[in-house]
Amino acid sequence: MTRLNKFIADSGITSRRKAEELILQGRVTVNNKTVTTLALNIDLEKDVVSLDGEKIKPNEHVYYLMNKPKGVVTTTDDEKKRMTVTDLLNLKQKIFPIGRLDYNTTGVLILTNDGDFAQRLIHPKNNIIREYEVKLDKPLEPEHEAALLKGVFIEGTRGKFIAVKFRKIKDRKNIVVQCTEGRNHFVKKMFTTINYTVEKLHRSSFAGIVPDIPIGSFRKLTKDEIQKLSK
Ligand code: URA
Repeated sequence: MTRLNKFIADSGITSRRKAEELILQGRVTVNNKTVTTLALNIDLEKDVVSLDGEKIKPNEHVYYLMNKPKGVVTTTDDEKKRMTVTDLLNLKQKIFPIGRLDYNTTGVLILTNDGDFAQRLIHPKNNIIREYEVKLDKPLEPEHEAALLKGVFIEGTRGKFIAVKFRKIKDRKNIVVQCTEGRNHFVKKMFTTINYTVEKLHRSSFAGIVPDIPIGSFRKLTKDEIQKLSK
């Protein structure tokens, strides 16, 4: 069941607030009956909603993979007017990124207009694995590697990596970490806590999806990928 104004807004024709105005103006019908209450929930499978006599088509869900470049924000509206990931995609539909990547972080970002799908992928109980390539300011000491795997406290809550790998023998500055946390700035905070600075951050996998396209580009997720992610 979906609120009537949300259904109208999700279809892409107007905002939720404007949809409320259309309802109050008596321009919206549900199953051929004019509806002027804002409290109505509709069944997407059965109910037919029309505006000025014309049927409103439900918005189709879309799913994109972006290999996020540096210098772009993942919020949909930036108060400093910086370029956003949705500006980059430039689609007609209103879509949003699933989770966040920092301004200068690159890598996998999934964007959609399917709120339930997004919720499932960010809900902590689903333990979605994120993998990051990290460049540190100095080599990671073995004792700190152990601490990151055991868990350290960031802002009073324990956080840990489930894997720490080294990309090259004898190079302990360039590492790969895996975690199931989506807290803001999680990777950077984990390292700041033990006095390292993250100089470069790239998300190399999110829920098994890897950035197989050049940085700064995007593609639709395949049906197969959407199905796997929905499970
Ligand atoms: N952790 C961070 O610190 N930054 C990101 O962009 C993603 C995870």
